[in-house]
Amino acid sequence: MYKFTNFAFMQFRFPHSHLLGTDQLTADDISVIFTLAEKQRKSIDSKQYPPVSTPGLRVVLAFFEDSTRTRVSFEKAAQRIGAECVVFSASGSSVSKGESLTDTMLTLEAMGTDVFVVRHREDGVIHDIANTVNASCINAGDGRSNHPTQALLDAFSLYRAGVDFRGFKVGILGDVKHSRVARSNVQLLQTLGAECFMYGPPELMPEDDVFKAVQQVGSINELVECTDAVIVLRIQKERMQETVLSSLSEYAEHYCLQPKHLQHKPDLHVLHPGPMNREIEIATAVADGPNSLILEQVRNGVAIRMALLNLLGEWH
Ligand code: CP
Repeated sequence: MYKFTNFAFMQFRFPHSHLLGTDQLTADDISVIFTLAEKQRKSIDSKQYPPVSTPGLRVVLAFFEDSTRTRVSFEKAAQRIGAECVVFSASGSSVSKGESLTDTMLTLEAMGTDVFVVRHREDGVIHDIANTVNASCINAGDGRSNHPTQALLDAFSLYRAGVDFRGFKVGILGDVKHSRVARSNVQLLQTLGAECFMYGPPELMPEDDVFKAVQQVGSINELVECTDAVIVLRIQKERMQETVLSSLSEYAEHYCLQPKHLQHKPDLHVLHPGPMNREIEIATAVADGPNSLILEQVRNGVAIRMALLNLLGEWH
């Protein structure tokens, strides 16, 4: 079993001032984040928030693409650690007048920002932003590349469910090709010692190096059979260049996780990053059933993001 080491948080400085991708995190970094997130999860459950841990921290959520879970949970996380938090949405801003991304970020920083949380539809843009501003940057999802806080909250949800990651097997189902969640999860789970498998329509299977050690299987039954947890992915039509799927009903017929698939796997953990297309990629009976960790993922998202703001806030 992977040992989550004890540490004295007050004498500790997180080695990273930015969180841009899961590839930068070691098992020890993840252990630190989980240890602190566990404390924060307990504070959320008891509604007993610790004294303001990062007084005066100034957080700006800069969202250039839509979001519900990530944006709201970062806002709640910032509030709960006592930070000042401003939410900037590109829609309704001077971006519509042609203001560049660089000018937008420098303008927001000039008003006073210690930590930027950025979501953007373009791959890798978070790296350009981190090279432009002095503030810490957290990637809240860039294109199809990375969604590190989602991967952290997914693994944290499994950890809280009692999972030992050494030798643990995780299946990824659906539109893997366009999924930043899949890329970040594969990197993070492999760092923790887990093994990953995938299944989905052939045209939605990825070819990039991140998936080199991910075995592709031939059916949902096979995926469920050989794994301990399955992460179901959303069909990301907004990232598809052309109509790659002939029909959603055909997709559902072959790739929707249904109760019949879990009949022989009563202990399988089922995750979905949301938002869900119910009855297309996951049946409601599974999403809302006893195997589902989906709402736990949402709850843990706030705790993970509190921990990250605590850790990166130490740099300011
Ligand atoms: N999982 C996720 O990133 O959801 P949102 O797009 O609602 O933030």
